[in-house]
Amino acid sequence: IELAMDSDLIKLVNRLQDTFSNLGGELDMPQLVVVGSQSSGKSSVLENIVGRDFLPRGQGIVTRRPLVLQLIHTPVPDLSASPSAYSEWAQFLHIDKRFTDFDEVRREIEQETFRVAGQNKGVSKLPISLRIYSPNVLDLTLVDLPGLTKIPVGDQPSDIERQIRNLVVEYISKSNSVILAVSAANVDLANSDALKLARSVDPQSRRTIGVLTKLDLMDAGTNALDILTGRVYPLKLGFIGVVNRSQQDIISEKSMSDALEAEADFFRNHTAYRNISYKNGTKYLARTLNQVLMNHIRDKLPDMKARLNTLMGQTQQELNSFGDAAIFGDKNQQGALVLRLMNQFAQDFISSIEGTKVDMS
Ligand code: GDP
Ligand code: NA
Ligand code: MG
Repeated sequence: IELAMDSDLIKLVNRLQDTFSNLGGELDMPQLVVVGSQSSGKSSVLENIVGRDFLPRGQGIVTRRPLVLQLIHTPVPDLSASPSAYSEWAQFLHIDKRFTDFDEVRREIEQETFRVAGQNKGVSKLPISLRIYSPNVLDLTLVDLPGLTKIPVGDQPSDIERQIRNLVVEYISKSNSVILAVSAANVDLANSDALKLARSVDPQSRRTIGVLTKLDLMDAGTNALDILTGRVYPLKLGFIGVVNRSQQDIISEKSMSDALEAEADFFRNHTAYRNISYKNGTKYLARTLNQVLMNHIRDKLPDMKARLNTLMGQTQQELNSFGDAAIFGDKNQQGALVLRLMNQFAQDFISSIEGTKVDMS
């Protein structure tokens, strides 16, 4: 579709997408949800997937409200036409302001967390909604969640374990959620709350990806090769090992690109992981996610087609209701054009998606 050519068509597409989301409640795209114990590295993993520094991370309970992060693909701005245009910006639901400085985004998340969940380690189920607009993302929703914990601290109620568990289950039980079950490699996998909880809502592990963090922190002489090759815990989508930035890296503000390079070096040079380095690391995780998403969309095709048909039926009815009175007017012609474009869009949309079959094997 030559979207850039025709502003009417762009409006039409926007209208269609809005209609999709109206019809389905939420836009029926999958959302990626992280689950794991406190400080297992959930926020770090999400941040790496987005490729931007903006999430509060650190030791102890840092993420204390769900963060629903919507990535929205935007075209690259024409800088020759408007030199001051920003290509990437962030927008919260709770404040009418465009953020272009992602350090400020992090501070706003922190403040908004304090505002609702208090100063003293409290947790709230009220989500923070954040949208990031960028030419470098695909339309996707990611959810960062408070970590699973056992012992109440600060202002946390005595049943904090149950409260966080319920909160997490609320997000991961949705059938269109892809679960990133995050476990730290320096903790025994048998104790992984992430895997236990993921299995409770996805017993066939169709939509669970195991992410093993902190491989760099394992005791000397030990490694996670058996886990990464699927010999310890069966998951259809497998385990992917990552090395995120350490607390020291956060303090010294190590850049994301330096961290990605160090991660790649880690896998390439490690005697145990050298042979599986191509199937590990943040980049491979992102690629796997893309495939899972494409497969997910493909599975939704019949449903989308049905919805489109309903939609077009409705438009046809609207047109009919203009009746003979409008037959010489512009309105009818516009309506016919809308219908034609919509039809065209539906065809292009469906064939473009059908053409992207991805083999997971
Ligand atoms: P969350 O509580 O699960 O969201 O975890 P965070 O992303 O906030 O990380 C908790 C702490 O663990 C931070 O200090 C991170 O720097 C550190 N961390 C996370 N992943 C890794 C990793 O792969 N290696 C190392 N060395 N530290 C990590
Ligand atoms: Na943390
Ligand atoms: Mg966190």
